[in-house]
Amino acid sequence: MPQQVQGVIAPGKNEPVRVETIIVPDPGPGEAVVQVQACGVCHTDLHYKQGGINDDFPFLLGHEAAGVVESVGDGVTDVEPGDFVILNWRAVCGRCRACLRGRPWYCFDTHNAGQKMTLADSGKELSPALGIGAFAEKTLVAAGQCTKVDPAASPAVAGLLGCGVMAGIGAAINTGQVGRGDSVAVIGCGGVGDAAVVGARLAGAARIIAVDIDDRKLRTAKKMGATHTVNSASTDPVEAIRELTGGFGADVVIEAVGRPETYEQAFYARDLAGTVVLVGVPTPEMRIELPLLDVFGRGGALKSSWYGDCLPSRDFPMLVDLHQQGRIDLGAFVTETIGLGDVEKAFARMHEGDVLRSVVQF
Ligand code: APR
Ligand code: ZN
Ligand code: ZN
Repeated sequence: MPQQVQGVIAPGKNEPVRVETIIVPDPGPGEAVVQVQACGVCHTDLHYKQGGINDDFPFLLGHEAAGVVESVGDGVTDVEPGDFVILNWRAVCGRCRACLRGRPWYCFDTHNAGQKMTLADSGKELSPALGIGAFAEKTLVAAGQCTKVDPAASPAVAGLLGCGVMAGIGAAINTGQVGRGDSVAVIGCGGVGDAAVVGARLAGAARIIAVDIDDRKLRTAKKMGATHTVNSASTDPVEAIRELTGGFGADVVIEAVGRPETYEQAFYARDLAGTVVLVGVPTPEMRIELPLLDVFGRGGALKSSWYGDCLPSRDFPMLVDLHQQGRIDLGAFVTETIGLGDVEKAFARMHEGDVLRSVVQF
């Protein structure tokens, strides 16, 4: 039987979000209905609300979530009712060219639920954010979007691995391939940059240099494992990173802001043959200009990192285990837990600078 539950809707461009009754259909073949237990508030949800992603309003927001599988459709074998799962926005197909070439994190054919959730009053079809839509008591997803993890983990913590925290940790351990003893610089220490600090520490980096223009962010980055901090509002970060690395530059520089000046800093802060990992998402009009001789002469690699180049089924359970063992502290990313009606307030707080993640708890 289709169910009526409460969910947070973005009704139109820049209109305030509101809690509405939505209809969640029974899972069809390959689908699952998940009872959401926690869902983090991410910048991407705000971008959806602002019309910055596409115009397919109304959106059902929320995509950093964990919960319990309630029911599954025909042919679903990987998860079953009662499983504690993290939702992911990249359920890879295993058959496309990227998958077959061993790079499933670039899968062209990631899938979401085929059926639509709808608004109870108007019957309008909802577009779930990133194919998830988890600011809702229950949501319908493709079963491949569910990754089973240790049910002892806190849902608020587990859910964060579904997006921003995975993007940051993965930038260090998957894309950057940080190695034992490496020096790593992280430019921009919001939730994503801090997660990159955690990833660098996990990978055994000897030096982790956190760069930000806000001293509060630098203090948090230090708690997350940064060994050195640089306030780039007052100090040239490229010079400072070179000084802290014996004059060379960092082996891996992770950019987690998404601005031209920080892209350029990342480019020059790396050691010869070092790696730059770009996680910060620029806007379409942004440009940088680089002397080609520097591009040629410095060697190394310029990489962008999408979703931490993660494989949910490999990375989510591993990171939950490490958290449960106390070897990484993902709880430090949960600044506050809020109710379903507080998402608009959480959007406003994002700009105040003292929130890593607000998490809706059910
Ligand atoms: N130099 C250094 N740090 C900066 C600069 C700058 N010029 N401008 C902003 N920052 C810092 C901010 O002070 C903040 O700490 O960058 C950080 C950005 O953090 P958030 O706004 O919390 O964003 P976050 O969620 O961490 O995402 C960062 O990664 O995945 C992408 O889309 C995401 O582009 C965004 C980026
Ligand atoms: Zn594929
Ligand atoms: Zn997100």
